[in-house]
Amino acid sequence: MQETGIAGRQGEMVERILALKEERDAVILAHNYQVPAVQDLADLVGDSLELARAAATRDCPVIVFCGVDFMAETAAILSPAKTVLLPASDACCPMAQMVTAGEVEVLRDRYPGAAVVCYVNTTAAVKAASDICCTSANAVRVVRSLEEDRVIFVPDRNLALYTARFTDKEIIPWEGFCIVHDRITPEEVREAKHRYPGAEVIVHPECRPEVIDLADQVSSTSGMVRYVCESPKETFVIGTEVGILYRMRKLCPGKQCVPLSPQAICTNMKKTTPALVLRALETMGPRITVPEEVAAGARAAIERMLAIR
Ligand code: 13P
Ligand code: SF4
Repeated sequence: MQETGIAGRQGEMVERILALKEERDAVILAHNYQVPAVQDLADLVGDSLELARAAATRDCPVIVFCGVDFMAETAAILSPAKTVLLPASDACCPMAQMVTAGEVEVLRDRYPGAAVVCYVNTTAAVKAASDICCTSANAVRVVRSLEEDRVIFVPDRNLALYTARFTDKEIIPWEGFCIVHDRITPEEVREAKHRYPGAEVIVHPECRPEVIDLADQVSSTSGMVRYVCESPKETFVIGTEVGILYRMRKLCPGKQCVPLSPQAICTNMKKTTPALVLRALETMGPRITVPEEVAAGARAAIERMLAIR
C-alpha cells in the first residue's frame, strides 16, 4: 500500500534528501533547538561546541548546517575547503549582532592587558578581534585557561556573570543578551517548583542571574540532555528554548521533561525545514563563506578554544 497525503509527501521528501546527501557526500548537522523533522534528518544533533568540533573533524566535502548564521560561519572558518550550506539564509542570532569588532577594540584600549573572550554567538569579525572563543559548555574552562587576571567577555552579560562565579579573575561583561533566555523570569522558576515539587530545574547560562540563583543545574543544551538521561530523578523543568524537549524526550523516554517557559521559542532556530534542506542540497546554496583575511584571526580564536578539553 502506498502512503498518500502529507505523510506520504514528507516521506518522499526525506528519501530525496537522503539520496542527495549521499550523492553530494554531505553531512547534516543540526542544533538541539531545530524542529523535530529537521533533527530526525540530521547525522548529528548537538550543542554549539559539539557541532563546531564535528564541522572541523568530519571528513566530507559538504556540510548542511541546520542552525543559525554564526554556527555555519564557524564551520566555514574551521573548514574553508568544505562547502557550508545554511538552508535558511535568514536564520540569524540577534545576540551575535550586539557587539562589533570596533567595540572590542575600544574595550581593549580601555582595559589594557585584559584578555578578550568572545562567545561563539558572535560574528567572524568579533572572533578575529578576540583572543579566544567559548561556548556555553566550556566558558568556565576557557576563562580558567587564561594567564591574564582581567577578562573582557563579549557579548552575553548573563554568561559572563555566570562564568565569573567560578573564577577569581575580574570579568568585564558586555551588555548583550539572548532575547529568548533573558525573558525567563524567577517567578516562572518559583511557579514551576510549586507545580512540580521534587523536580529538578535545569537552566541555560544565558538566563539572568536571578533565574540561575533558583535553578538546581546550569548547563549547555547537550549538557542538559546528558544530565536528564543520567540522573536517577524522574521530573525535570527545562529552562531553555523548547526545541530541546524533543531530543530529551526521544533520548530519555522514561523521564518527564517540562518547559520552564513554554514561550521560550527562538524563531530563527525554527526557520529551517526539510523543504529548505532539500533545496540547499539541490542548489548547493545558500553557501556561507568568510573572507580569509577575517577567517584567519577568527580561526585562531576558535582553534585555541577547541584545544581546551
Ligand atoms: P548551546 O551551545 O548550549 O547549544 O547554546 C547555543 C545557543 O544559542 C543557546 O541559545
Ligand atoms: Fe541566539 Fe538566543 Fe536563538 Fe540561541 S536562543 S540562537 S542565543 S537568539
